Amino acid sequence: MYADFSELSERDRYKLLIATVMPRPIALVTTQTKAGVLNAAPFSFFNIFSEDPALAVLGLESRRDSNAIKDTTANIESTGELVINLVDRAIAEPMVACAASLEPHEDELAFAGLTPYASRKVSVPGIAEAPVRLECTLFEMRQITARRHLCVAEVQALSAREGIIDLQSLHVSLDAYKPIARLMGESYAELGEIFTIPIPSAPITNVNDTP
Ligand SMILES: Cc1cc2nc3c(=O)[nH]c(=O)nc-3n(C[C@H](O)[C@H](O)[C@H](O)COP(=O)(O)O)c2cc1C
Repeated sequence: MYADFSELSERDRYKLLIATVMPRPIALVTTQTKAGVLNAAPFSFFNIFSEDPALAVLGLESRRDSNAIKDTTANIESTGELVINLVDRAIAEPMVACAASLEPHEDELAFAGLTPYASRKVSVPGIAEAPVRLECTLFEMRQITARRHLCVAEVQALSAREGIIDLQSLHVSLDAYKPIARLMGESYAELGEIFTIPIPSAPITNVNDTP
Protein backbone atom coordinates (compact mmCIF):
# COMPACT_ATOMS: atom_id res chain seq x y z
CA MET A 1 0.00 0.00 0.00
CA TYR A 2 1.38 3.44 -0.90
CA ALA A 3 -0.43 6.78 -0.63
CA ASP A 4 0.80 9.97 -2.33
CA PHE A 5 -0.48 12.77 -0.08
CA SER A 6 -0.65 15.21 -3.00
CA GLU A 7 -3.40 13.00 -4.46
CA LEU A 8 -5.39 12.58 -1.25
CA SER A 9 -8.27 14.69 0.02
CA GLU A 10 -7.91 16.48 3.36
CA ARG A 11 -10.28 13.92 4.89
CA ASP A 12 -8.29 10.92 3.62
CA ARG A 13 -4.99 12.39 4.89
CA TYR A 14 -6.65 12.86 8.26
CA LYS A 15 -7.92 9.26 8.26
CA LEU A 16 -4.47 7.84 7.49
CA LEU A 17 -2.50 10.08 9.85
CA ILE A 18 -4.80 9.75 12.85
CA ALA A 19 -4.97 5.95 12.55
CA THR A 20 -1.24 5.38 12.05
CA VAL A 21 0.44 8.02 14.22
CA MET A 22 -1.00 6.70 17.45
CA PRO A 23 -1.42 6.29 20.34
CA ARG A 24 -1.38 10.06 20.91
CA PRO A 25 -1.42 11.76 24.29
CA ILE A 26 -4.45 13.89 25.09
CA ALA A 27 -4.33 17.48 26.31
CA LEU A 28 -7.56 18.56 27.98
CA VAL A 29 -6.96 22.29 27.60
CA THR A 30 -8.56 24.82 29.91
CA THR A 31 -8.72 28.45 28.84
CA GLN A 32 -10.92 31.40 29.66
CA THR A 33 -12.26 34.48 27.97
CA LYS A 34 -11.06 37.92 29.07
CA ALA A 35 -14.34 38.11 31.03
CA GLY A 36 -13.43 34.87 32.85
CA VAL A 37 -15.79 32.37 31.16
CA LEU A 38 -14.09 28.98 31.47
CA ASN A 39 -13.59 26.64 28.53
CA ALA A 40 -12.24 23.09 28.27
CA ALA A 41 -11.57 21.01 25.15
CA PRO A 42 -9.49 17.92 24.33
CA PHE A 43 -6.69 17.94 21.73
CA SER A 44 -4.66 14.95 20.56
CA PHE A 45 -2.61 16.82 17.97
CA PHE A 46 -0.47 17.42 21.02
CA ASN A 47 2.96 16.68 22.35
CA ILE A 48 5.88 18.19 24.21
CA PHE A 49 8.60 19.72 22.06
CA SER A 50 11.49 20.66 24.35
CA GLU A 51 12.53 21.32 27.94
CA ASP A 52 14.62 24.51 27.62
CA PRO A 53 12.45 26.35 27.00
CA ALA A 54 9.77 23.90 28.15
CA LEU A 55 7.46 23.86 25.16
CA ALA A 56 4.35 21.92 24.22
CA VAL A 57 2.64 22.02 20.82
CA LEU A 58 -1.03 21.81 19.90
CA GLY A 59 -2.69 21.56 16.49
CA LEU A 60 -5.83 23.67 16.59
CA GLU A 61 -8.21 23.25 13.66
CA SER A 62 -11.15 25.44 12.81
CA ARG A 63 -14.68 24.14 13.32
CA ARG A 64 -15.71 21.73 10.57
CA ASP A 65 -19.29 23.15 10.45
CA SER A 66 -18.59 26.90 10.29
CA ASN A 67 -14.81 27.22 9.67
CA ALA A 68 -14.74 29.55 12.70
CA ILE A 69 -11.75 29.24 15.03
CA LYS A 70 -12.38 27.19 18.15
CA ASP A 71 -13.00 28.87 21.51
CA THR A 72 -9.68 27.44 22.77
CA THR A 73 -7.76 29.20 19.97
CA ALA A 74 -9.61 32.49 20.51
CA ASN A 75 -9.08 32.37 24.28
CA ILE A 76 -5.36 31.56 24.05
CA GLU A 77 -4.90 34.39 21.55
CA SER A 78 -6.73 36.91 23.72
CA THR A 79 -5.37 35.95 27.17
CA GLY A 80 -2.03 34.27 26.34
CA GLU A 81 -2.74 31.54 28.90
CA LEU A 82 -3.79 27.88 29.02
CA VAL A 83 -3.58 24.86 31.28
CA ILE A 84 -2.88 21.45 29.72
CA ASN A 85 -4.62 18.87 31.88
CA LEU A 86 -3.47 15.30 31.26
CA VAL A 87 -6.12 12.60 31.15
CA ASP A 88 -6.50 9.22 32.86
CA ARG A 89 -9.28 6.60 32.65
CA ALA A 90 -11.24 8.19 35.51
CA ILE A 91 -11.84 11.39 33.54
CA ALA A 92 -12.07 9.86 30.03
CA GLU A 93 -15.85 10.35 29.71
CA PRO A 94 -15.82 13.96 31.03
CA MET A 95 -12.87 14.66 28.68
CA VAL A 96 -14.97 13.54 25.69
CA ALA A 97 -17.95 15.53 27.00
CA CYS A 98 -15.72 18.63 26.80
CA ALA A 99 -15.55 18.12 23.00
CA ALA A 100 -19.25 18.93 22.71
CA SER A 101 -19.88 22.13 20.77
CA LEU A 102 -21.17 24.55 23.38
CA GLU A 103 -21.73 28.27 22.90
CA PRO A 104 -18.70 30.45 23.83
CA HIS A 105 -20.48 31.67 26.99
CA GLU A 106 -21.16 28.10 28.20
CA ASP A 107 -18.74 26.49 30.65
CA GLU A 108 -17.65 23.01 29.46
CA LEU A 109 -16.14 22.17 32.86
CA ALA A 110 -19.53 22.51 34.56
CA PHE A 111 -21.18 20.67 31.63
CA ALA A 112 -18.75 17.73 32.07
CA GLY A 113 -18.99 17.71 35.88
CA LEU A 114 -15.34 18.70 36.36
CA THR A 115 -14.00 21.05 39.04
CA PRO A 116 -11.71 24.07 38.51
CA TYR A 117 -8.35 23.90 40.31
CA ALA A 118 -6.59 27.22 41.01
CA SER A 119 -3.34 27.74 39.10
CA ARG A 120 -0.42 29.72 40.54
CA LYS A 121 1.43 31.03 37.47
CA VAL A 122 -1.57 31.77 35.26
CA SER A 123 -5.03 33.06 36.00
CA VAL A 124 -6.88 30.28 34.17
CA PRO A 125 -7.60 27.29 36.43
CA GLY A 126 -6.77 23.69 35.65
CA ILE A 127 -8.95 20.68 36.43
CA ALA A 128 -8.96 19.23 39.95
CA GLU A 129 -9.72 15.69 38.75
CA ALA A 130 -6.78 15.64 36.27
CA PRO A 131 -3.77 13.57 37.40
CA VAL A 132 -1.29 16.18 36.08
CA ARG A 133 -1.68 19.84 35.07
CA LEU A 134 0.74 22.01 33.07
CA GLU A 135 0.30 25.74 33.63
CA CYS A 136 1.30 27.41 30.35
CA THR A 137 1.70 30.77 28.69
CA LEU A 138 1.51 31.32 24.95
CA PHE A 139 4.98 31.14 23.36
CA GLU A 140 3.82 31.46 19.76
CA MET A 141 0.59 31.12 17.81
CA ARG A 142 1.17 30.46 14.11
CA GLN A 143 -1.68 30.46 11.63
CA ILE A 144 -0.61 27.70 9.21
CA THR A 145 -3.61 27.89 6.85
CA ALA A 146 -7.05 29.50 6.98
CA ARG A 147 -8.27 26.51 9.01
CA ARG A 148 -5.23 25.62 11.14
CA HIS A 149 -3.27 27.15 13.99
CA LEU A 150 -0.11 25.77 15.55
CA CYS A 151 0.02 26.75 19.22
CA VAL A 152 3.37 26.59 20.97
CA ALA A 153 2.87 26.85 24.73
CA GLU A 154 5.55 27.39 27.36
CA VAL A 155 5.12 25.30 30.49
CA GLN A 156 5.57 27.52 33.55
CA ALA A 157 4.61 25.04 36.26
CA LEU A 158 3.37 21.49 36.82
CA SER A 159 1.06 20.21 39.52
CA ALA A 160 0.12 16.58 40.10
CA ARG A 161 -2.20 14.53 42.22
CA GLU A 162 -0.68 13.33 45.49
CA GLY A 163 1.28 10.06 45.05
CA ILE A 164 2.14 10.43 41.35
CA ILE A 165 5.50 12.23 41.57
CA ASP A 166 8.13 11.65 44.26
CA LEU A 167 9.11 15.04 45.66
CA GLN A 168 12.78 14.15 46.15
CA SER A 169 13.65 12.21 42.99
CA LEU A 170 10.88 13.68 40.74
CA HIS A 171 10.28 10.11 39.56
CA VAL A 172 6.78 9.42 38.29
CA SER A 173 5.05 6.30 39.59
CA LEU A 174 3.48 4.30 36.78
CA ASP A 175 1.39 2.52 39.42
CA ALA A 176 -0.22 5.84 40.27
CA TYR A 177 -0.17 7.59 36.87
CA LYS A 178 -2.13 5.85 34.12
CA PRO A 179 -2.70 8.27 31.24
CA ILE A 180 -4.96 7.22 28.41
CA ALA A 181 -4.24 7.79 24.72
CA ARG A 182 -6.30 8.64 21.66
CA LEU A 183 -6.36 6.10 18.87
CA MET A 184 -8.69 6.83 15.94
CA GLY A 185 -12.38 7.80 15.82
CA GLU A 186 -13.93 7.14 19.21
CA SER A 187 -11.22 4.67 20.33
CA TYR A 188 -8.90 5.22 23.27
CA ALA A 189 -6.34 3.03 25.01
CA GLU A 190 -4.78 2.51 28.39
CA LEU A 191 -1.09 1.66 28.74
CA GLY A 192 -0.33 -1.97 27.97
CA GLU A 193 2.79 -3.97 28.80
CA ILE A 194 5.68 -1.76 29.89
CA PHE A 195 9.21 -2.95 29.08
CA THR A 196 12.67 -1.44 29.30
CA ILE A 197 15.55 -1.50 26.80
CA PRO A 198 18.85 0.04 27.95
CA ILE A 199 20.71 2.07 25.29
CA PRO A 200 24.08 0.36 24.61
CA SER A 201 26.99 2.39 26.00
CA ALA A 202 29.45 1.40 23.22
CA PRO A 203 28.69 2.05 19.56
CA ILE A 204 27.44 -1.05 17.76
CA THR A 205 29.76 -2.04 14.89
CA ASN A 206 27.83 -2.53 11.70
CA VAL A 207 29.33 -5.52 9.89
CA ASN A 208 28.37 -3.96 6.53
CA ASP A 209 30.59 -0.94 7.30
CA THR A 210 33.82 -2.99 7.36
CA PRO A 211 36.00 -2.34 4.30
C1 LIG B 1 -9.94 12.96 22.08
C2 LIG B 1 -10.16 14.18 21.21
C3 LIG B 1 -9.08 14.77 20.60
C4 LIG B 1 -9.25 15.92 19.80
N1 LIG B 1 -8.16 16.49 19.22
C5 LIG B 1 -8.31 17.63 18.52
C6 LIG B 1 -7.15 18.28 17.97
O1 LIG B 1 -6.02 17.83 18.11
N2 LIG B 1 -7.35 19.45 17.28
C7 LIG B 1 -8.59 20.01 17.12
O2 LIG B 1 -8.71 21.08 16.52
N3 LIG B 1 -9.70 19.41 17.66
C8 LIG B 1 -9.58 18.26 18.35
N4 LIG B 1 -10.68 17.66 18.90
C9 LIG B 1 -11.98 18.31 18.77
C10 LIG B 1 -12.16 19.45 19.80
O3 LIG B 1 -11.99 18.97 21.11
C11 LIG B 1 -13.59 20.02 19.66
O4 LIG B 1 -13.71 20.64 18.39
C12 LIG B 1 -13.98 21.00 20.75
O5 LIG B 1 -15.37 21.23 20.68
C13 LIG B 1 -13.29 22.35 20.65
O6 LIG B 1 -13.79 23.13 21.70
P1 LIG B 1 -13.64 24.69 21.84
O7 LIG B 1 -14.39 25.34 20.68
O8 LIG B 1 -14.27 24.97 23.16
O9 LIG B 1 -12.18 25.02 21.79
C14 LIG B 1 -10.54 16.47 19.64
C15 LIG B 1 -11.65 15.85 20.24
C16 LIG B 1 -11.45 14.70 21.01
C17 LIG B 1 -12.65 14.03 21.65
